[in-house]
Amino acid sequence: MTQDEMKKAAGWAALDYVKPGSIVGVGTGSTVNHFIDALATMKGQIEGAVSSSVASTEKLKELGIEVFDSNEVAGLDVYVDGADEINAQRDMIKGGGAALTREKIVAAMSKTFVCIVDGTKAVDVLGKFPLPVEVIPMARAYVARELVKLGGTPEYRQGVVTDNGNIILDVHNLAIVDPKGLETTINGLAGVVTVGLFAHRGADVVITGTAEGAKIEA
Ligand code: 5RP
Repeated sequence: MTQDEMKKAAGWAALDYVKPGSIVGVGTGSTVNHFIDALATMKGQIEGAVSSSVASTEKLKELGIEVFDSNEVAGLDVYVDGADEINAQRDMIKGGGAALTREKIVAAMSKTFVCIVDGTKAVDVLGKFPLPVEVIPMARAYVARELVKLGGTPEYRQGVVTDNGNIILDVHNLAIVDPKGLETTINGLAGVVTVGLFAHRGADVVITGTAEGAKIEA
């Protein structure tokens, strides 16, 4: 089975968590794109979606799913999104697709976070995948210096502007043994919009696509 087939298995299995008549929180990325394809098969049974990126919004609309402004919705039952890394405590690194801030907002609005991944995303210690940090452009150099003090090696993601008009620093060489602590510390730096650590609000359900099909940990 290819990695994409495993992503597809996870994405389609997440459909079981979608309640008829609901508005669904939808994340971003290649695994979520499979979920959106699956969601389109029940578009007549849901009210619509709240999306975490321009890319997902476009795909949802193309497939005929109504996309609501997050400010028009009081809360969401379920948020389905991928991850770049996930540990046994269900803390995640996200933001490989630069959508981390909107992802964190939609995750915060949701009762249940369903994380869909292929088996390559599971790790013992987070940090091999460079940690994305969304930063206000004028704070780029300052925040980079502070990230070096925390033991990381930040790299400016060239040519990327987030949906919010900001830049991304990818922080290499971190072994993240205290995800909640590091999330709080980096979020506290002036000029940081969001760090792509999802530990204070981790996943509630993990669906992993494997060669044997989708494995669900609820
Ligand atoms: C985007 C994300 C994605 O969830 C993450 O990058 C995983 O992507 P993919 O499903 O393509 O492997 O956080 O900002």
